[in-house]
Amino acid sequence: MERKGLIYEGKSKVVYASSDPQKVIVHFKDDATAGDGAKRGTIKGKGEINCIFTKLMFRMLEKKGIPTHFLDQIGPDEMLCWKVKIIPIEVIVRNWVAGSLAKRYGKEEGGKLRSTLLEHNLKDDSLHDPMVSEYHIQAFGWASKKEYDAISRMALQVNRILKPYFDRRGIMLVDFKLEFGKKGSQILLADEITPDGCRLWDKATKKKLDKDRFRRDLGGVEEAYQEVLARVQS
Ligand code: TMP
Ligand code: ASP
Repeated sequence: MERKGLIYEGKSKVVYASSDPQKVIVHFKDDATAGDGAKRGTIKGKGEINCIFTKLMFRMLEKKGIPTHFLDQIGPDEMLCWKVKIIPIEVIVRNWVAGSLAKRYGKEEGGKLRSTLLEHNLKDDSLHDPMVSEYHIQAFGWASKKEYDAISRMALQVNRILKPYFDRRGIMLVDFKLEFGKKGSQILLADEITPDGCRLWDKATKKKLDKDRFRRDLGGVEEAYQEVLARVQS
C-alpha cells in the first residue's frame, strides 16, 4: 500500500492517506511526550514495539468480538487501518489507583478500587484533556447518548478481556486509555493499545513497565517496553 499525503501528525503517531480512500497508514514514532507535550523525548525502538503491541492487542480483541480500525501491519512501525473520524473523547478504565486519580482524590498509588472505574476526558491538549461527564459530552455534541453508551460498554468489555490476559503474563493492568472512531455509523476501537497509554505493573515486584518510567524519569524505559512486548509475545 502506497503512502500518500499526510493527514494528521500527533505526538506519537503520524497518519497518512493511502491509495485506498477508505484506508489510512498509521506510522508509530519513537517520540514520547508527557504533560500534554510539555516534556519531550525519544524512546529508542518504541515505534516498532508499539506497532507490534497494538497489532497483537487489536487482533486478539477482534477475535473476541471488539471491532477495531486495525487491518494489517505493513512495515516495522506502520499499520494499515480503516479511516475513521475520531470521537474526541478519551475513555480511561482503571482497575487500581494510580496517576491523576491518586492525585485528585489523595489516595495511595496501587490502592484497591471496589469496582472498575470509567472516566471520560475531552481530547484537547490545549485544555489539558479535562474530565467530562456524559452530560457535557451530549450538551457539547462530542458524541450522542447512543455513542457514549457504546464506547463506554466497549471500553469495559476491552478491560474484561485484557485484565486477565495481562494477569496470566504476570502483569497488573492498572489503567489504560482508549479512543474510538466512526466509520460511517459504525464505532471502531481506534488509536493504539501500547505501554504509552496503559499502566502495566509487574505483579510480583510492582515494577512499572510503561510510560511512567519516562514521565517520572525512572530510567530503564527502553528495557521496560522490550520486557512487556516479550511477555505478550510469550
Ligand atoms: P492519568 O492517571 O494520567 O489520568 O492516566 C490514566 C491512563 O491513561 C494512563 O494509563 C495513561 C493514559 N493516558 C494517556 O494515554 N494519554 C493521556 O493524555 C492521559 C492523560 C492519560
Ligand atoms: N497527554 C500526554 C502527553 O503526551 C500523554 C501522557 O502523559 O501519556 O503530553
